[in-house]
Amino acid sequence: MNRTEKATKREIGRYFIRRYLMPLKHLFALMFAFQLVFATFDAVYFAINGYVIDNFIPMGGEADYISLAIFYFAVVLTISVFCRITITLGTVIAQEIMYRIREDAFDHLQKLSFSYYDQNSVGDLLARITTDAKTYAQIIGSHLPRVLYLGSFVLGVVFYMLYLNWKIALIIFTAIPFSVFLAVVFQKKILAVSRHVMACNSKLTAAYNEGIMGVQTIRSLAKEEEFIQKFDKIADETFVYSKRSLMYVATYLPFIIASTGFGSGLLLWFGGEDVLVGVMSIGTLIVMNIYSRFLSEQILFLARTIGEMQPAQASKERLYQLLKTTVAIKDSLEIEEKVKNDYQSPELAIDGGVNKISELEFKNIDFYYKEEEPVLTNFNLKVLPGQTIALVGETGAGKSTIVSLLCRFYEPTAGEILLNGVDYRQRSLEWLQSNLGIVLQTPFLFSGTIRENIRYGDPEASDEKVMEASKVVNAHDFIIHLEKGYDTEVGEGGGQLSSGQKQLISFARAILANPQVLVMDEATSSVDPETEHLIHEGLQKVLKNRTSFIIAHRLSTIRRADRILFINQGIIEEQGSHEELMSLGEKYRELYEKQFMHYKEQEILGRSVGFN
Ligand SMILES: Nc1ncnc2c1ncn2[C@@H]1O[C@H](COP(=O)(O)OP(=O)(O)OP(=O)(O)O)[C@@H](O)[C@H]1O
Ligand SMILES: [Mg+2]
Repeated sequence: MNRTEKATKREIGRYFIRRYLMPLKHLFALMFAFQLVFATFDAVYFAINGYVIDNFIPMGGEADYISLAIFYFAVVLTISVFCRITITLGTVIAQEIMYRIREDAFDHLQKLSFSYYDQNSVGDLLARITTDAKTYAQIIGSHLPRVLYLGSFVLGVVFYMLYLNWKIALIIFTAIPFSVFLAVVFQKKILAVSRHVMACNSKLTAAYNEGIMGVQTIRSLAKEEEFIQKFDKIADETFVYSKRSLMYVATYLPFIIASTGFGSGLLLWFGGEDVLVGVMSIGTLIVMNIYSRFLSEQILFLARTIGEMQPAQASKERLYQLLKTTVAIKDSLEIEEKVKNDYQSPELAIDGGVNKISELEFKNIDFYYKEEEPVLTNFNLKVLPGQTIALVGETGAGKSTIVSLLCRFYEPTAGEILLNGVDYRQRSLEWLQSNLGIVLQTPFLFSGTIRENIRYGDPEASDEKVMEASKVVNAHDFIIHLEKGYDTEVGEGGGQLSSGQKQLISFARAILANPQVLVMDEATSSVDPETEHLIHEGLQKVLKNRTSFIIAHRLSTIRRADRILFINQGIIEEQGSHEELMSLGEKYRELYEKQFMHYKEQEILGRSVGFN
């Protein structure tokens, strides 16, 4: 390991101590105190045997067995009570840590930019948060106190043995460095392999996730074989590393056991002689023997516990990596300072405090997702207040990219997006996003009822308002026909509704928020053309005097937009009203007529029609 790696390890350690362990320092102190008493009593418990052999046996029936029994019972009782308390404290600590890590990770994931999700699989992230947080917390809650207990037990016993007979004690201890050396060597190897096992496990979870979420797509593409092969490869890799990890553990144990046996042998050899010549009592020899066995066993246990703590290091490193991933899109320090706790901060207010976005401009925008593949080059667009802008064009033209930039899901590589003439990075992210209403092609619903989902748009809204918003987007009809109406549970992620119904609900949610700027990216692509037409009828009122961007494949729905932009490879090739573009007679008209013909054909074939 080189120096930088060591430094990082120390940095990670410090971060976790400061962030997760220090806040629980009182609990730790309490647990360690109990642990210490527990260890002391545990050690005393064995010493009683020697005392009994040397003092009670020679006295025969005369000895005070009742007091002995009471004392013995008190010791055992204390041990069990303290053991129970330390385990409970350990569990509480583990739960606290796990909760805090998961909360931090969740918070952080919310802030990470979309480009992070482009590069990282959700399964991998989930595995990282759930498994790694659990591994780390449990190890801190159960292994750390155990190490302390074993450590104090071992130390106490070592001193006690030295006190009883230092020569014999030293002879027995000669076997110990050998065990320790073996432990260190093996643990290093086990750590390296356990890192691989964890990495494989998370790849496996990611593959599971993909396999389950994408099962329909995989089947429909007849890619089962390919997918299974890919999965098998990951599973094989996991197996190989898990086996190697077990092999190391299996080789390690016999070595350590042999070295402890060696210690006992030495004691009987030299200690036996001492007893014979009367230098040491039988009781002491027996206690020394019990202790020497226990000592080796406890050292072995200590070594194993430390070994088992290694995955915590691996988990800690992975969590750290996630928690420290820089948030690419966030408020600058200067803005953060101005906003403090109030994103409506008057210092950042626009339009003389009215906060009205009156003009919106994309100025000389360059953008790429991957460096070598520019999506937008010198893109310019000025939108007047209240205008409805429609973006049309072939798939991959860059329409979604344009609105993603506006929503600041991504930031322009070069150029500026201006709100009332000011770069939007001069405003807080929260302010921008709370003034934008965004409806996407693949809407996300939270678990809960339909009503709750719509109300996310405006938590204060009355039931009537929720209903009104639903009526605007034509969602009301289908909702009241559901058995429980607005109180229908949507299921996790909206799984119990059709795609079209989910779109309608997320649409109602955006409308309810009454945003200054409305962005709809294929927001109605999953509903049938007739419903889509009805939605757009209802929307006319909402769109009036509201700046909005609509992306739709069905051109019939955007005919009424103030300005239609025909985008091709990130460039506005044509723009104007529907009529203007039709009379221009070029690409837009071509696309429109192609669609018109297609719908006409469908009409003749008796399918549903939404083109008018
Ligand atoms: N997250 C991403 N990472 C990398 N490249 C992307 C990403 N999203 C889009 N692209 C690329 O950027 C280009 C523009 O994509 P965009 O999604 O803006 O097109 P679009 O006009 O919205 O298409 P569609 O009509 O299919 O929705 C495409 O070449 C696409 O491959
Ligand atoms: Mg798109």
